[in-house]
Amino acid sequence: MNTDQAIVISAPEVEHYHGDVLGIGSHKPRLSWTYSEQPPQGTQVAINLTRRMPGSDPVQQEAEVDAGDNMFLDWPFEPLRSRERALVTLAMLNADGAPLGAPSPERHFDVGLDVTDRIADFVGPSWPEAETDHRHLPLVRAEFELPAAPRSARLYLSALGLVQAEINGARVGSDELTPGWTVYGRRLECWTYDVTEQLSQGANAMGFWLGDGWYRGRLGFDGGMANFYGDRIGMFAQLEVEGEDGSITHIYSNSWDRTWKTTLGPIVCSDLYEGETYDARLEEPGWSSPGFDDSAWRPVAEVSYDPAKIENPQLQAVRMQGRNQPVSITRTGGSGKSSSWLIDFGQNCSQRMRLHMHGLAEGARISIRHAEVLEKDGTLATRTLRRGQEHDQYISNGQDAWWEPRFAMHAFRYASIEGWPGELTAEDIDCRVYHSTMERTGWFDSSNPLLNKLHDNVLWSMRSNFLSIPTDCPQRDERMGWTGDIDLFAPTAAYLYDVQAFLSSWLKDVRIEQEAHGTIPFFVPFVPLGVWAKPSAIAIWGDAAVAVPWTLYMEGGDRHILDESWDLVRGWIDEVRAYLSPDGVWDRRPDYVLGQLGDWLDPTAPPDDPAQAMTQKELVATAYFARSVDYASRIAQALGKPTEAADYRSLHERMVTGYRNRFVVGDGPDMRMTSDTQCAYAISIAFGLFDAEPGLKQAAGQRLAELVRESGGKVSTGFAGTPFVLPALSETGHDAEAYSLLLSTECPSWLYQVKMGATTTWERWDSMQPDGSINPGGMTSFNHYALGSVAEWMHERIGGLRALEPGWSLFEVDPRIGGGLTKASTRHLTPHGMAESSWRLEEDGRVRLRLVVPAGSVARVLIGSPAAPGKRSSKDYPAGTYDLVVER
Ligand code: BGC
Repeated sequence: MNTDQAIVISAPEVEHYHGDVLGIGSHKPRLSWTYSEQPPQGTQVAINLTRRMPGSDPVQQEAEVDAGDNMFLDWPFEPLRSRERALVTLAMLNADGAPLGAPSPERHFDVGLDVTDRIADFVGPSWPEAETDHRHLPLVRAEFELPAAPRSARLYLSALGLVQAEINGARVGSDELTPGWTVYGRRLECWTYDVTEQLSQGANAMGFWLGDGWYRGRLGFDGGMANFYGDRIGMFAQLEVEGEDGSITHIYSNSWDRTWKTTLGPIVCSDLYEGETYDARLEEPGWSSPGFDDSAWRPVAEVSYDPAKIENPQLQAVRMQGRNQPVSITRTGGSGKSSSWLIDFGQNCSQRMRLHMHGLAEGARISIRHAEVLEKDGTLATRTLRRGQEHDQYISNGQDAWWEPRFAMHAFRYASIEGWPGELTAEDIDCRVYHSTMERTGWFDSSNPLLNKLHDNVLWSMRSNFLSIPTDCPQRDERMGWTGDIDLFAPTAAYLYDVQAFLSSWLKDVRIEQEAHGTIPFFVPFVPLGVWAKPSAIAIWGDAAVAVPWTLYMEGGDRHILDESWDLVRGWIDEVRAYLSPDGVWDRRPDYVLGQLGDWLDPTAPPDDPAQAMTQKELVATAYFARSVDYASRIAQALGKPTEAADYRSLHERMVTGYRNRFVVGDGPDMRMTSDTQCAYAISIAFGLFDAEPGLKQAAGQRLAELVRESGGKVSTGFAGTPFVLPALSETGHDAEAYSLLLSTECPSWLYQVKMGATTTWERWDSMQPDGSINPGGMTSFNHYALGSVAEWMHERIGGLRALEPGWSLFEVDPRIGGGLTKASTRHLTPHGMAESSWRLEEDGRVRLRLVVPAGSVARVLIGSPAAPGKRSSKDYPAGTYDLVVER
């Protein structure tokens, strides 16, 4: 029952930021909010804005809108200005204009710096640096006076390289690896910090640690490439302080007013992949506080960068997200003043240790290594890291200190420490987990602990690889934004976390690289590495240009993301359609040494040739591109472009016919595909390529189910097929086979990994082999998210939730009871609020379903046996909580 007073209205979210945010890029940010229950007809929402320019008094404004305008409401006021601060609250009003319930909590946000306000220069070392990588890193400092105590202050911070700021001896904010990785030649993020509390009247100082990061550090595999974006690092800092007396003070980094100084700091070298070497003997106490004697420091030099390319981030920063405690600490050698230790944190992920360095003599060296797994002899498995050796070194100045690398990132479960004086205890170790800040939105639970562990592993691989950009893996010398991996994982990611901001930021770079290279590079940002140096169109990887925007739209319902991606989508479709044969099949070999990657990492492929799959590459390429064309046509439709929508629709029809003619032999129940593989049937069914011929689709489903039974439940697919086998089986009424694949513990399978002690999802089905040895392939990671895309099926078909309309305004509830499970549940924080489906098998054999539908959306519950897909019906449920009995 709705009692008007009980309706709760949330604080508005600003664009796709979550919570309060500083330094947004938009001057007309859209606002979205939710209700705990559907507000009655005629409800209005008053939007109360308090806005203030630095140095001016606050101004109040109000706007009124219909309660139903709560998704991406266009900014109902005059545009905000550069650096303007805003505070918004919402209040519901009934049809007579009287207040309804309590007003929303407050939302605070600031606009970032506009180009016209960017006065600071990038500054860095003024000495000739070595013309290689692994350079000794600089510090930069400046002192200044404030005429009055600060009322409010903002620091705008960026870098060519990486930067960490301190004011008066204390760190600014908690962001890591700032400013993050973008295609620096075209865009660079500038982050905004509230530093009011850190400043005071009189003398103040700022200090900056600078690192190489992605800008000039060595990136990628096959030896990698250093200095790719430039060989000089520099930082950009602009401080604006409003005093209690009304004064405004601006401080800008620059090379001309002689207050900005630099010197070599304690970080002797740092590489994101290889690790950091820190010499505490080079510390200069007090360097970021006022009154420090910097007469031995040198003036900074300017590093030129076009301020018009600076942007205010749309995603949120990398930050510490939690901690892992050691589960064991074992002495492995040495004694007394210098011993070696092995630490097991029980969880593989992107993390770094902060260690309490004590009892060390001046000049004593601690060596720290990291690895995902152990070799059979119990030593760290570092071969698979290749160049990315994750090796830190700390040289003591003889004093007590807590130390953690600043500009390197590691992914590991195990660490070894050498040169430790005395006992190593858990009190000396603070292990911190890092990833980009995102809101958690998806949960899953079931009566099967192995499945729950698999789901947990999927989450950990996602977290580990959502670090500024979506990467393939977080540990070895790769960590690139491989497009194919996120193409496959995006739907799972979008369910588990709110990735709208994170992935749409990355899509900007995909578009930039597409313009630069005339195609979608294999990874974005692109770095010319080895045989991958010349981008060429390949399926799945390139198809991310369409699949990722589509996934974001289906999840978030924000048409603006499609709008922003339209050139990207169209660019990919129009490029590849020119490669198709007249019958619409993509059989032209890409102009690139490996050709199509196809069903990459098919379990039958030899360890050293992951592209040697059972399924024909042209079949895979055509199916994936047909799916892209289908999405592109829907995208055009959603954007109100009927001509393009129709054009893509007819291209799709041509492809579907060509695909069927080329890759299907025979008719009726005896039909076969030219590649008689799980991958071939799965993608044909899941991409709707047989939808026009229900008989064909059913026969393909039968054959797929047969192949699964013949395989004894072992997985037989690689990257391309894996996400779609279970969905295709379910769609054609073969849930039992889907469960048999998912629940198998034989190698290769998902639960094989779990049984082998995995705490993340692996790159290869058998990254660790049944005898506990590590796969000999040079490309073997224990933390890739691609095969974790199976969680999508777990959410949709075990838990039972699936979006039918963009933004979850309509969603399907269709849990498939099976697999010996006695209960399962999934929850998803949709744009409208929390949706939930939880079922339990009762003793009388009935299945009880608890269903939660958030205000603003409708749940469509499927009725009838899933084994007869054609005979099912459905019933719609508006917002509310329901207890239902499900038919099986
Ligand atoms: C990466 C993958 C990637 C693949 C493409 C690998 O080295 O780790 O995940 O998609 O190369 O071939």
